[in-house]
Amino acid sequence: MRALISPSILSADFTNLERDLHRIARADYAHVDVMDNHFVPNLTLGLPVVKRIAEVSPVPIDVHLMIEDADRWALDYAQAGAASVTFHAEATQAPVKLARELRAAGVRASVALRPATPVEPFLDLLGEFDMVLVMTVEPGFGGQSFIEGTLPKVRRLRASITEQGLDTWIQVDGGVARSTVATVAEAGANVLVAGSAVYGAADVAAEIDALRALADDALGAH
Ligand code: DX5
Ligand code: ZN
Repeated sequence: MRALISPSILSADFTNLERDLHRIARADYAHVDVMDNHFVPNLTLGLPVVKRIAEVSPVPIDVHLMIEDADRWALDYAQAGAASVTFHAEATQAPVKLARELRAAGVRASVALRPATPVEPFLDLLGEFDMVLVMTVEPGFGGQSFIEGTLPKVRRLRASITEQGLDTWIQVDGGVARSTVATVAEAGANVLVAGSAVYGAADVAAEIDALRALADDALGAH
């Protein structure tokens, strides 16, 4: 399995987004964090900005919705040009219905779990999702430190995906850097989000390559 790198533009310069999107042109996706100041205590950007980002980005857009009432809003992000839309399990009434609607709209459908949200209710439903995002920090801010206790969830997910013969991706988001990327990939995560580690690096392109190489090595066993 090959690792996919999705730098989070939460750590980019919001007044120079187009420039900063081009700085991650060798990544697999651009991770766009949408926050509504209700589901999380922070506010970022919404539909009109995502639409423009999708138009100018050199790589496909991976939208991470940290908003309440995802059932109402997620489809709009599919129509705004995202390639993948992730909504939170804690913010939807009908995750399977929503995932089916997203797939019907032609985007990858993904469900996210906060650190304290169990994965077990989703294990029999994994075929309904293209990706599961295991949050490795409490969502809301970049630059937080990685929560080790989320790793067993990644391992249980990978085991279940393998057992069922599925191709569901596992994304991790929060505190992913050179020091943690091998651990999460070894546990079975194949889509790595990194914000401060990538945009805080002196050479952004080299950092993406370094994270990918470390993750590819650690994913070898999967
Ligand atoms: C946090 C966001 C992340 C954030 C990660 O809620 O979902 O995508 O940008 O930032 P780092 O990689 O700095 O932990
Ligand atoms: Zn995110």
